[in-house]
Formats: sequence, structure tokens, C-alpha cells
Amino acid sequence: MEDAQSTIKPHAVMIPIHYQGHVTPTINLALKLASKGFTITFVNTENIHHQITKSSLKKQSKESEEDHDIDIDIFAGARNSGLDIRYKTISDGFPLSYDRTRNRAEFNEANLKVFPAHVDELLGHLVQDDPSVSCLITDTFYTWTSRIARKYNLVNISFWTQPALAFISLGPSNTRVDTIDYIPGVKAIEPKDLTSFLQSTNTTSLARRIIDTAFNDVKNADFILINAVQELENDTISAIQEKQPFFAVGPIIPSGVTRGLVPTSLRTESDCNNWLNTKPQGSVLYVSFGSSIRSRKSDIDEIAQGLVLSQVDFIWVLRPDAVSYEEPYVLPDGFEEKTKNKGLVVPWCSQIEVLSHGAVGGFMTHCGWNSVLESLWCGVPLLCFPLLAEQPTNRKLVVDDWRIGVNLCDSKPLTGLEVAEKINRLMSGKSAEDLREQTFKVRQTVERALAAEGLSQKNLNQFISDVKAKIRRVK
Ligand code: UDX
Repeated sequence: MEDAQSTIKPHAVMIPIHYQGHVTPTINLALKLASKGFTITFVNTENIHHQITKSSLKKQSKESEEDHDIDIDIFAGARNSGLDIRYKTISDGFPLSYDRTRNRAEFNEANLKVFPAHVDELLGHLVQDDPSVSCLITDTFYTWTSRIARKYNLVNISFWTQPALAFISLGPSNTRVDTIDYIPGVKAIEPKDLTSFLQSTNTTSLARRIIDTAFNDVKNADFILINAVQELENDTISAIQEKQPFFAVGPIIPSGVTRGLVPTSLRTESDCNNWLNTKPQGSVLYVSFGSSIRSRKSDIDEIAQGLVLSQVDFIWVLRPDAVSYEEPYVLPDGFEEKTKNKGLVVPWCSQIEVLSHGAVGGFMTHCGWNSVLESLWCGVPLLCFPLLAEQPTNRKLVVDDWRIGVNLCDSKPLTGLEVAEKINRLMSGKSAEDLREQTFKVRQTVERALAAEGLSQKNLNQFISDVKAKIRRVK
């Protein structure tokens, strides 16, 4: 049996959702699985492909070549290093010229309906051209996976890019006002710590419809992979494992030879290294609120004031669409003058590179799951200001459960004074020392999980062995 299985080479088609916070971990998972012997056919939408190649060419100052981006294979570097990863792009239903950001609601609504047809057509061709295709790995938020996996007789693997606590608390999807203390594996979770869509009374929003359909669909998955760490959410993960094959293999962050092999950024990265090199160890606060969610203008104004009052050195990623898609946010009068030599404001950067720099000592974040994992991986404590989605749940893990972060504020309006006070608590004095010590300890847990005998590795190996057994049965 073992011999027969070892000759099986799983071939997975992988399809991420069209957001930075989902594309990056799915590419990283592809690299991980390919380095474990999988053949991967990775599928991006044409629009995501266009954004990645455009930013990557701009970074290399080859703007004139951007018209030819469609010919670029972002996995070429990975293949050159010996990994068997092929690359395809498909339409998301709209022409490249369509502005998906400004028309987000319309785009998402239409994409939900038309995208599965494009996937179906592509898979039809793929399985016909190459019968070795055996698995379909898609983001858990897709609503159509089980139907298409069944149609092409593929092992159905769902990839959950958020923590287990968000997964388990999304199961019972109705508006919550009570303390949830009755889900096995979850000690008690207050409504304020739930995914924002479950705090809302709007039960017919697109997000809610997607969650409901996707969480029904995922019940049919053969396997679920999660970008989380078993030791950090053991009870919750064990409770989910009672019901479904659920494998925590995180954090899926490339390091060593796979780092930088594949471009993942949808925006052009500004270089922060030269500036950081001039700053003392652990002195810089990194501020970023993720890739796509907008903030209230009043909050951004108070954060600007708080940065001035705190007097810390900082890098602030202020996306042009941080507040509105229509008009770029304008910093308060005098901000640049007051923070001269102390602050660097950029529209986008390589976050993992910034967090890895020794000068960075704290991260003010919206608590997107990738940001949490990257910060933890780099040993940087967090100042938490969740905006939407499962970010409140991520904050609960960071602040209450792992104690590697400080909460910025709950539902009351933010003030510059409070921002400055919390920044100082994060960056200096005994509180900062305690946070760093605790972050170091949690990071050690993560390192152990990724070591050869660690649970993330064991889970990955078990997953691969189970997938091979499943392929033998379905083929
Ligand atoms: C979205 C959801 O909001 C979040 O709750 C969910 O967990 C993932 O998808 P997003 O806003 O994209 O999150 O945040 P996050 O998950 O933190 O991912 C952002 C990614 O962009 C990170 O990998 C980060 O390294 C990267 N990034 C961000 C950059 O590379 N440069 C930047 O300047 C900012």
C-alpha cells in the first residue's frame, strides 16, 4: 500500500480568490505542495495576473514592457528551481479595462454567477489534455467547488486562509447577539469578537450569502487545509477535526529557497530598506491596514495625530484608496513637516521585508490574518485595530489568547491621544518588553510547529498521504 502510494504524484489545480490576502497564501501553499512532490496547475484570473506582472515589472523598472505582461509566467522562477508548477489564467467575466475597485459590489455579484462557468470550461480542457489532474484546491469562500470537483472526479480540497476560530464560528451563520459558549472547542466568544458579517443584522448582504453557501459547500470537501498553527488553536482545531479532515499546516510563509521565487504583490512596492537602515533596533512602528478595506477618514486623521503625539519613528502604508476609491486621502495640514525624518509614508511596500527588518519593533494593523501571521513570524508585537471580516476574531486571538498585542479601541470613536498612548504602550517601557518576550515565546511555538517533527509538518505529511490514498480510490 505504502509503495503503491509513493508512486502516486498528485496533480492539483489551485484557484485562489481574487484578493491579495488570498492570492498570496495560495501561491505560498502551491510552492509548499510542489516542494513535497505535487504537480500544480495554478490558475489566476487575467486581472490578477495583469496586476502582479505590472507591479513586478514596475519594481524592476521595466514599465515599457507592461503591455506584454500576458506572456509572462509568474511561476517561471519556481519551475527553474525544479518545482513542477504550471500556470494558467482565466477570465473573471469582465474585460481588463473594467474598474473592479470602483464597481466592487457590481463586480462581486456578477463574478459569483459567471466565474464558475469559466472554471468549469478550463477544468474540462485541463482534465482532457492531462489525465494526471487529480485534485482541485480552491479557497473555502468559493461556493461552487464540490459541484465542479464531482463533475471531473477530482479530490475536493478546500483552503481556509484564516484562523480555525473564524472557521468554527462561521458555521452557525445567523446574526449573533449572545455570548457563544456552546460550540465544542470554543471557550466563549463574545459577539464583538465575531466576523463582522455575523455582527450585522443584514442577513441578505452578498458577503452573508457567500458565507452561507460556501459553508454548506465546504461540508462536501474531502480535505480542508488551513493556514494556521495547531498548537496555537488546539481545542478549536480538534473540535473541527471531529467532523472533517482538517489539517493545520501554517504558517505558510516562504523562507529559504522558495522566498521571492514567485511575485505575489498586486501593487508596486516602494523600497523602505534604506530608510530603515538609518533607524535603531526595534524603534520603528510599521502601520498598515491591509490590501483592500477602506478606513473612516476620521480614524485616519486621528491615527495621523496619534503618530505625531507619540513621537515614534514610523513607516505608514497609506494606500491611495485607504479612505475612498474616488479621491486619495490627504494627510492633515502640517503632518509631513511635524514628522520630518521620523516618518516614511508609502502607498505600498513589501510588508514581509519591512517586518523582517530589525529596526521594526511594532505593527499597527487591521489584523488581516496574513498580517498577523507575518508579524508573528517576524517576532513583532501588534497594535490591533480591526476593520471588517474576521479581523475582530483575529484580534481576540492576538490580544486575549496569545497576549502578543494591544487593543487600540473597540466601538467608540478613536482619538489621537488614545492612539499615542497605545503606541507608547506597544513600543516602550515594561509593557513593550513584556509583549516582545511573549511574542518571542509564541514565535518559538510556531518555529517548533514548522520543524521536521513539528505538528504543521506532520499534518502536511499526513494530508499528503491521505490525499494519495484518496486518489487511488477515486481513480
Ligand atoms: C483580507 C481580509 O480583510 C482579512 O481579514 C483576511 O484574513 C484576508 O483577506 P487583507 O486586507 O488583504 O485581508 O489583509 P491581510 O490578510 O493582512 O493580507 C494583506 C497582505 O498584503 C499581506 O500578505 C501583506 O504582507 C501584504 N501587504 C500589505 C504588502 O505586501 N504590502 C503592503 O504595503 C501591505
